[in-house]
Amino acid sequence: MNTVDLITKKRNGGTLSPEEIKFLVDGYTAGEIPDYQMSAFLMAVYFRGMNVEETVELTDAMRLSGDVVDLSAIKGIKVDKHSTGGVGDKTTLIVGPLAAACGVPVAKMSGRGLGFTGGTVDKMEAIPGFKTAMEESDFIDQVNTCGIAVIGQTGQIAPADKKIYALRDVTATVENLSLITSSIMSKKLAAGSDAILLDVKCGKGAFMKTEEDAEKLGRLMVDIGNSSGKKTMAVISDMEQPLGCAVGNALEVAEAIDVLKGQGPEDITELSLKLAGIMIYLSRVAGTDGLGLEEGIARGQEAAEQALQDGSALEKFRRFVSGQGGDPGIAEDPGRLPQAKLSKQILAQQEGFVSALDAMTIGLASQHTGAGRQRKEDEIDLSAGIVLAKKLGDTVRCGEVLCTLYGNDEDKLALACEEAVKAFIIDDTKPEERKLIKKIIE
Ligand code: URA
Repeated sequence: MNTVDLITKKRNGGTLSPEEIKFLVDGYTAGEIPDYQMSAFLMAVYFRGMNVEETVELTDAMRLSGDVVDLSAIKGIKVDKHSTGGVGDKTTLIVGPLAAACGVPVAKMSGRGLGFTGGTVDKMEAIPGFKTAMEESDFIDQVNTCGIAVIGQTGQIAPADKKIYALRDVTATVENLSLITSSIMSKKLAAGSDAILLDVKCGKGAFMKTEEDAEKLGRLMVDIGNSSGKKTMAVISDMEQPLGCAVGNALEVAEAIDVLKGQGPEDITELSLKLAGIMIYLSRVAGTDGLGLEEGIARGQEAAEQALQDGSALEKFRRFVSGQGGDPGIAEDPGRLPQAKLSKQILAQQEGFVSALDAMTIGLASQHTGAGRQRKEDEIDLSAGIVLAKKLGDTVRCGEVLCTLYGNDEDKLALACEEAVKAFIIDDTKPEERKLIKKIIE
């Protein structure tokens, strides 16, 4: 087989065979195919696309490029949850303990944040003492004893994706349905769970800007997950504005604790309960076994609401944190989380309604405070970030606080303020209410 011929075939709109796709993925992972040829191939895919069969093969070749985790030593139906990324999305810290409190074994590998989006591993590292790296046997023990463990991704999961994603990032070939699907699903399918729940974000702070595109991505990922023998579902949820009010690592942990105490913002509470309900249904626990989709999700959601009200989800969070070496005292005293020395408020210059609150701009502003990284190797400030005082549709009086920015560097904070102010548009008409959960795909 010849790499130039395969690039030419795709450039001309042809369909690649499973062997041809495997040749490209294996050759690139092994360093036998250079970056410039893979870049050309990715650009050909970007313009010509791949059909479902090619996407299935690409996902499989990438999944098999490294370790495939064996979680069979963990009892029960393990359900993984994955968000396609957004701003203020701390749902794993809430949904994990909620689902685990209802009997779902949660054995999860998460990633770090990059650019304007955050990552669960960074958020967990804001908890004093919390370890995000564990031996596989300790990881399995923690899930069997506590019901939940969340660690960083190991280097051996889908190494082909690691290499290809880095190349896509610098060759303007990220935004392609087949490439995004194979990238996410190769990692999820290698991570060893029995079922997968995808939270596909759409709106200004997401890869997929429209509901239509998010639905196409969700449908393709669900089909690929199911065809690989793992029950897979997707939720399409809004990411036009940040989720909840806190953006930034320690700030988001504090907000997750508020939600687990039943005192969190409405939007993130609603989404967390829905995601936990679906995970409970997929795991067939809490009386959902044998129920159909709608009834099963409703029963799962009731169980999650109960775990929130009776404090068992918060107790699970404490045990999860202490099991991974963290300080469970943060649940009572969030002041034990890293605290920023400086803060600045942005005040409204006119009265009216918040008619736009751009999630991506808030994400970029949060990155400027020091909470996010521009390059993978950048250090981040775990205490930095933004807390929104106003959200879409809220009424605002002149001089009222729109948001507060936190950090430890005056210059960074000033730059972040310049950005954050652009996220808010205030005018006379109340915007139409946006639906948070737009669709569930089975
Ligand atoms: N997240 C991934 O892991 N891969 C993509 O291609 C896009 C988002």
